[in-house]
Amino acid sequence: MLKGKHIILGITGSIAAYKAAYLLRLLIKQGAEVQVVITPSGKEFITPVTLSSLSGKPVISEFFTANTGEWHSHVDLGLWADALLIAPATASTIGKMAHGIADNMLVTTYLSCKAPVFIAPAMDLDMYAHASTQHNLDLLRSYGNRIIEPATGELASHLTGKGRMEEPEKIVEILDRFFETAQPLRGKRVLITAGPTYEKIDPVRFIGNYSSGKMGFALAEACAEAGAEVVLVAGPVSVKEKHTAIHRVDVESAVEMYNAVLAEYDRTDVAIMCAAVADYAPETVSDVKLKRTGEERVLRLKPNPDIAAELGRRKRAGQCLVGFALETNDEEANARLKMEKKNLDFIVLNSLRDAGAGFRCDTNKVTVIAREGSEVEIPCKPKTEVAADIVNMVAGYFANKD
Ligand code: PMT
Repeated sequence: MLKGKHIILGITGSIAAYKAAYLLRLLIKQGAEVQVVITPSGKEFITPVTLSSLSGKPVISEFFTANTGEWHSHVDLGLWADALLIAPATASTIGKMAHGIADNMLVTTYLSCKAPVFIAPAMDLDMYAHASTQHNLDLLRSYGNRIIEPATGELASHLTGKGRMEEPEKIVEILDRFFETAQPLRGKRVLITAGPTYEKIDPVRFIGNYSSGKMGFALAEACAEAGAEVVLVAGPVSVKEKHTAIHRVDVESAVEMYNAVLAEYDRTDVAIMCAAVADYAPETVSDVKLKRTGEERVLRLKPNPDIAAELGRRKRAGQCLVGFALETNDEEANARLKMEKKNLDFIVLNSLRDAGAGFRCDTNKVTVIAREGSEVEIPCKPKTEVAADIVNMVAGYFANKD
């Protein structure tokens, strides 16, 4: 699975750097193209000459090559990579990565990298067990990075415990398995809408709804995890995206969401419309706060554009369009009608009659109806897991078309 894969091997200042030479050799033997990026302290443990001889490429350590003045673009490197593997990763590099301290070429490349990141820590047992190291590893996990747990055994300090970098064979196996099974959406661009829209009445009031954005953001994370480039058009929400492959565009109203979505749609392979978009907006918006008069007040509403329906009209061969339906009655019939009217390939139905489904909660219970006929019920479970199931169905859709 590693044949032809572009891998950045990041090496930091740990005694386990000696194992990096063997790791590099194994990656090359598997057919990977490897670019070594080493930190200044990494060079104290292993010479770049050894590494460049094995990789067949000059080793990158600084932002510039001193004698030629050649600039090494961390951005280009980050885009080139199919995976970034940091082995060994010291506590210091892990801390810098967790907090975005880009004071060397390796951490700067990490921050620019859109590819999956694998981190193989190596350090003494107490350093590894320290609360700050564990906290930083948790942060890195929460950003979507994969930690290759260190092994337990005799350490360079002659103490015994957890902290030895995992063996090179095992690391290569982990990468191999990753490329074999994960990333079914690699190379695809996915457009997702999430959250509510706010339709202004005056400077302090709006028409909105209870959507938290949790379902849409979970979908964005799952798509990024599956290797896609994600554009996430989000209404006003407090959730935050984590994965670096997610490009977030914030909007407030349905019209803003419509414009942001249409600007992206041509370049999109999959569009997932999870937002709860207001169907109507006030016909006029007052510039000043409306005062209480004691009189009855009538708010005239005008229809908002139907974003999903417009995408359905513009859909070309090869694009997959997924909509959501939040229903309170006649659920399946209403969902099927929406799928038809908006020319969707899938509709994800959730009902407010089901406990643990719909707005705000961390779980959802959905039925995914495919235009092609299948109907899959996903029981109540965390929105992250529901999202992963939906992504698998979309990936299956493409696999069947290929
Ligand atoms: O954000 P959470 O709190 O996690 O809640 C998740 C959710 C309940 C919002 C989500 O699971 C969901 O069901 N989203 C769609 C809710 C909805 O408003 O559906 P609808 O039946 O009104 O719209 C049908 C489809 O058309 C949806 O894909 C919607 O995004 C789209 N639509 C609707 C109106 C409009 N003007 N433009 C649209 O694109």
